[in-house]
Amino acid sequence: MNETDTLTIIKPDAFGAGKAGHIIAHLEDAGFRVVAATVKHLTLDEARAFYAVHRERPFFSSLVEFMTSGPCMPLLLRREDAVPELRSVIGATDPAEADEGTVRALYAESKERNAIHASDSAENAEIEIAFFFAGTERLRA
Ligand code: CMP
Repeated sequence: MNETDTLTIIKPDAFGAGKAGHIIAHLEDAGFRVVAATVKHLTLDEARAFYAVHRERPFFSSLVEFMTSGPCMPLLLRREDAVPELRSVIGATDPAEADEGTVRALYAESKERNAIHASDSAENAEIEIAFFFAGTERLRA
């Protein structure tokens, strides 16, 4: 079994609506294990740094405002083929386009307030894991 790691963030919309437990259960049912978790209210600088790749996009300032609007919950997740499997389980960015039963179809409000983030490549997963969990012990269960 070739297990790999990825990063997810339960965003301020879903976390504030009390959906963190439901979403974690959904992810565990899909075969992911939680390796590390935290609750964090991002500063403006942290949100800008995390989403730096989108800084030229028209939605950047709105995205930063949303991501700093309340606490969020970053989680380090593990399973086989973690990066593509997580993206499949969470669904399309826009909940209107997300497949039935995906996390975004169930919990997202809009393309921006879309409940959950997932790393888009193994390389970015390691960068994003380091952003929230640098120095954290990554236990093998
Ligand atoms: P995420 O997977 O975290 O990656 C970038 C985020 O930007 C995305 O989820 C959405 O929250 C947001 N986003 C992407 N495209 C748009 C858009 N067209 N309008 C508003 N927000 C967007």
